[in-house]
Amino acid sequence: MFIARTVAELRQHLSAFKKPAFVPTMGNLHEGHLSLMRMGKQLGDVSVASIFVNRLQFLPGEDFASYPRTFDSDCDKLRSVGCDVLFAPDEAELYPQAQSFKVMPDPALADILEGQFRSGFFTGVCTVVLKLFHCVFAHSGGLAVFGQKDFQQFLILRHMMTQLAMPVDIVTGATTRASDGLALSSRNGYLSADERAEAVQLSMALYKLAQAARAGLAGGNFDVAAAEASAMATLRDRGWQPDYITLRRQSDLSPVTAANTKPLVVLGAARLGRTRLIDNLEV
Ligand code: PAF
Repeated sequence: MFIARTVAELRQHLSAFKKPAFVPTMGNLHEGHLSLMRMGKQLGDVSVASIFVNRLQFLPGEDFASYPRTFDSDCDKLRSVGCDVLFAPDEAELYPQAQSFKVMPDPALADILEGQFRSGFFTGVCTVVLKLFHCVFAHSGGLAVFGQKDFQQFLILRHMMTQLAMPVDIVTGATTRASDGLALSSRNGYLSADERAEAVQLSMALYKLAQAARAGLAGGNFDVAAAEASAMATLRDRGWQPDYITLRRQSDLSPVTAANTKPLVVLGAARLGRTRLIDNLEV
């Protein structure tokens, strides 16, 4: 695996390829990231990962400083799935000046759900992803693989590619889950043993809401708001602090109305102790 620490090294190395398959990450890799890498390897002529903990997407008081940095074991994992190139710039390389020029996604998509609770988060994501794309895809188009666990992020990045006419296909890989159903996430490592046993209840709540929506919408008498409130109350009773549990249209995350019932997705975010988890399920 070739490790590029600078933009120049990366561009020079990738100049020989026509279709990079890129998986951007913030490191602390788990099986979910590796499954995206395996997908990328099938689809491109060179597989590229990046590891960069992007300060711009953390709000004040969030876990930027304590976000796990596990470079050596990440490299071992990337080698185990045959990753060809790792781009691992430091902050001074990617942000040599304070990044005052930012990419502002459509507020209709970016200021709801995650954006409502993490103001500016998607501006930080879009800015770094566009910048990483300019580094990786300097010589050609290609594709980038993102996990479906970050459903809203994937939709916004796909919109960014269309709106900015970039020749990069955004591909999504299914959420990888632990044997009990918990979606894999680097932040699961913050959970205590008791919290880890409880954590699957978020996906259980989404699963039950999806089941109820399937049955209720087919019967034509489904009270979406009541079902969402009940899912949030169940989590609250178990000691969670839910930000949202909601049923939305997959294409634009708009609320479900009688005229707009398919295809749908249930999405949720909730805090368990000091750990904020997100998940979603297609209906
Ligand atoms: O999904 C993530 O890990 C991050 O948001 C990303 C896409 C690597 C940008 O920092």
